[in-house]
Amino acid sequence: MNDKRVVLVTGGMGGLGEMICTKMADAGYRVATTYSPSNQSHGDWVAQMEKRGYRILAVPCDVADFDSCAEAAAAVRDRLGDIDILVNNAGITRDVTFKKMEKTSWDAVMRTNLDSLFNMTKQVCDAMSERGWGRIINVSSVNGSKGAFGQTNYSAAKAGVHGFTKALALEVARRGVTVNTISPGYIGTKMVTAIPADILDSKILPQIPVGRLGKPEEVAGLIIYLASDEAAFVTGANIAINGGQHMQ
Ligand code: CAA
Repeated sequence: MNDKRVVLVTGGMGGLGEMICTKMADAGYRVATTYSPSNQSHGDWVAQMEKRGYRILAVPCDVADFDSCAEAAAAVRDRLGDIDILVNNAGITRDVTFKKMEKTSWDAVMRTNLDSLFNMTKQVCDAMSERGWGRIINVSSVNGSKGAFGQTNYSAAKAGVHGFTKALALEVARRGVTVNTISPGYIGTKMVTAIPADILDSKILPQIPVGRLGKPEEVAGLIIYLASDEAAFVTGANIAINGGQHMQ
């Protein structure tokens, strides 16, 4: 069945998104991803992927912009067919304490991390319901539930992700479409390694019971499960994958 299903992963060039793309391709899905229109190296990325044996369709998209999402989704449908699985993964940080936070940093994070869910899900959700099968997987964060120093914008957006998940899950539950949130903790990607090393070592790692950063492949494995037929009874859930940090 997988080889007939199409997955669109937003923000798949690098970090968690790239691992999700390659693991989904390994599992037999046809995979598309979006890249930011300002990303000049998208061609190199596609070529590198091809060298590694992955044929991943890459389409330009500003997930903060509704029309751009409409164009990207149409391009995926034209090339690969109907989108069966949407992974709303694209996200940014603009970390700074609230005292110093500019309105532009607030807006950028809310638009990219939260408005994007409306913008992209709107492109696929009705068609999934009509076909009677679909998977919408929204990537939130442990910081959406516990908050994080320097992340009033990001924590607010990521908390909003799960409200969206639960409300939409109710609306489409009878239509074979599941909607779930995953909430990763600190995963060893550029977003996390960009945190000042002393802060990571002294403030963050001690909060992770497992005692290490997560691995992108550990998160991708969870997404593969949620995308499967076996996960049909999981909906409106917020699955923690954070080495136990949510208990701290
Ligand atoms: N807990 C307690 N205190 C902290 C802290 C923390 N987590 N982080 C920073 N502080 C302290 C600093 O040590 C500093 O203390 P002093 O004044 O005593 O020296 C003070 O708070 C901050 O002072 P600054 O003026 O430097 O603050 P700033 O406005 O420039 O912001 C910061 C600094 C951006 C918050 C920086 O500390 C930082 O990057 N922190 C990490 C934020 C974080 O966890 N981001 C997560 C990114 S990964 C991600 O988001 C993925 C995911 O989903 C998990």
